[in-house]
Amino acid sequence: MFLYVANWKMNMPFDRVKSFCEDNYDGLKDLSKLPDKKIVLCPSFTELIPVLDIFGNCDVEIGAQNCSAYISGAYTGQVSVSSLAQIGCTYCIVGHSEVREYFLESNGQMAQKVLLALESKVIPILCVGEHKEDYGIDTAKEALFKQMEPVCVGLQDRKEASVCIAYEPIWSIGTGVTPEIEYVEKIFQFIFKTGKKICPNVEMALLYGGSVNENNVKKMKCIPNLEGFLIGGASLDFKKFEKIVQL
Ligand code: PGA
Repeated sequence: MFLYVANWKMNMPFDRVKSFCEDNYDGLKDLSKLPDKKIVLCPSFTELIPVLDIFGNCDVEIGAQNCSAYISGAYTGQVSVSSLAQIGCTYCIVGHSEVREYFLESNGQMAQKVLLALESKVIPILCVGEHKEDYGIDTAKEALFKQMEPVCVGLQDRKEASVCIAYEPIWSIGTGVTPEIEYVEKIFQFIFKTGKKICPNVEMALLYGGSVNENNVKKMKCIPNLEGFLIGGASLDFKKFEKIVQL
């Protein structure tokens, strides 16, 4: 199954998310019926229930953009992943670089979120990626290892688990610049190797994210072992998103 995860971030207010889903209901439903392709829409928390209601009877799946690193308790402003599971979310993005950067969340917190998501039967989409100054296979590997290690150690004792890892080079997000296929291939090999070494029972599906659009999707699909895309900007325009999924 190849995943197309639309990360709408905070780009559309409530009324626009609703009209986007209503206006493109048939189109999104048709995309979700394509063989071996899965559509996951990730609106903000406030839009999750309305979007779940709209797509309740079809194969379009809904994910959250973040969740709390805690189970429950006095954490004002936080949303628990068990609540996300109860309303019907099947995926949750964890550790997006914007969350790491603007809200200073740590790798330890990401590890906690991944574990809690799995306990609630929500598939975590863990985002990892290097800054521009770490561009280069060796420096990128170092940056990725720091992000992956606590999560993998947290999963060490699990008999089995499936997680999605979205490799998103930070310098590629929203810039229109994408890495070479060979570069991503090497990074993917490193991610697999790190996972196998630290948490061998965990199955990893690798996604790519960063400036995926209708013009470069064909090229980006050539990344070996790729199982999906995390799409920001281009997912806000249904025609572009449709083209990405169809190509
Ligand atoms: P982009 O965003 O497709 O606009 O680069 C990707 C992301 O931030 O997940």
